[in-house]
Amino acid sequence: MNSFRFYNPTQIIFGEGTADTVGQQLASVGAKSVLLIYGGGSIKKSGLYDRVIKQLQEIGAKVVELPGVEPNPRVSTVRKGIELCRSENVDFILAVGGGSVIDAAKAVAVGVPYEGDVWDFLMRKAEIRGALPLGAVLTLSATGSEMNGSAVITDWEHQLKKAFGSIYAYPKFSILDPTLTYTVPADQTVNGAVDMMSHVFEQYFSLTTDTPLQERLCESILQTVIENAELALKEPTNYAARANIMLCGTYALNGGMISVGMQNDWATHMIEHEVSAIYDIAHAAGLAILFPNWMKYVYRERIDRFVQFAVRVWGVDPNGKSDEEIALAGIQATRDYFSRIGAPARLADLGIGAEHLDQMAKETVRFHPVGSFKKLAEQDVRAILEMSL
Ligand code: NZQ
Ligand code: ZN
Repeated sequence: MNSFRFYNPTQIIFGEGTADTVGQQLASVGAKSVLLIYGGGSIKKSGLYDRVIKQLQEIGAKVVELPGVEPNPRVSTVRKGIELCRSENVDFILAVGGGSVIDAAKAVAVGVPYEGDVWDFLMRKAEIRGALPLGAVLTLSATGSEMNGSAVITDWEHQLKKAFGSIYAYPKFSILDPTLTYTVPADQTVNGAVDMMSHVFEQYFSLTTDTPLQERLCESILQTVIENAELALKEPTNYAARANIMLCGTYALNGGMISVGMQNDWATHMIEHEVSAIYDIAHAAGLAILFPNWMKYVYRERIDRFVQFAVRVWGVDPNGKSDEEIALAGIQATRDYFSRIGAPARLADLGIGAEHLDQMAKETVRFHPVGSFKKLAEQDVRAILEMSL
């Protein structure tokens, strides 16, 4: 195990009915002028918008709204939010939605005190040195954005999708009320399960040794998602299933708690972001296609971890099989599970052909080779994309 520091400043408020405590939370942090950021209307349809507005009125806060955050949020929308914060003297940002909304809120938060263009942070041209405080009411279990300092933003005009991470971007609090996810449609429920499992994969497939606790934490999140996702699909208002999935999503990517002292990979996420940048597909749809192919491409780097994955997570019977056969059975079980819950298996399923493979591979390694389980150069990324066609 490597040495590490771990700090996560986000307060989590979890449980049925907690959505009605957002006013109280805002009052406790002294919010007076609030930018309310939300997406394309799901919160209006579900009634959550009215519940939040009522609480903001009760505490006498001024409310400024930024509606219409896109899935794969655009930097143009973020820039609008920054302008609003400046012109309306906003002192707190409240994101109500899924990962896209929370990510946009984070980008607005770090952009307000910066004199340059917020896109500089995504292109690693400037360092984040401060932010407006933000909080979140999560409506979709998937990204972990509710308890981490990362955001992923798209520059649609230039077909770029990039990420930043900063201690300043952690929400002060996040409200996790599983009942808010009852309305999440089947395809987004599937996406959420695939995304949180992928976050675990990025940390679990590591070359770091002597990390039994971290490995078991990873494996138990995977097993809990596997057990509960199909139940949530069958019974969308099953509280236990939604609550368990929500907790898994938050734990899977909250500043690295489950993988402290381990080297992480993140290559597949970097590749996927470039697919989304060009084709605007759901992040997890790309991950479902790419991850089993990444696994096939890299498993020989450390076959014992893939054997452990197959046996402990998927229950592959190791008797009479070589390590190679066990590892491959685990990878196949991953693919089969994704397909069973309805995730796509090939880029062709999303109408994506070979036209932009070079561009995606090149952009993935723009800053440096990606991954650590196996360092991937441009030609490796291209090979994985080709396997995914
Ligand atoms: O926009 P609205 O109308 O709210 O509808 C959304 C959206 O269409 C809908 N939705 C959300 N909650 C709902 C609901 N529909 C019904 N009932 C509800 N309760 O779901 C759709 C997708 O929402 P989105 O926020 O885009 O999904 P997700 O949470 O999966 O976020 C995806 C984004 O997060 C980034 C991805 O790249 C992508 O841009 N990621 C962020 C990460 C982070 N910050 O740490 C890590 C991830 O790996 C990921 O890259
Ligand atoms: Zn992800």
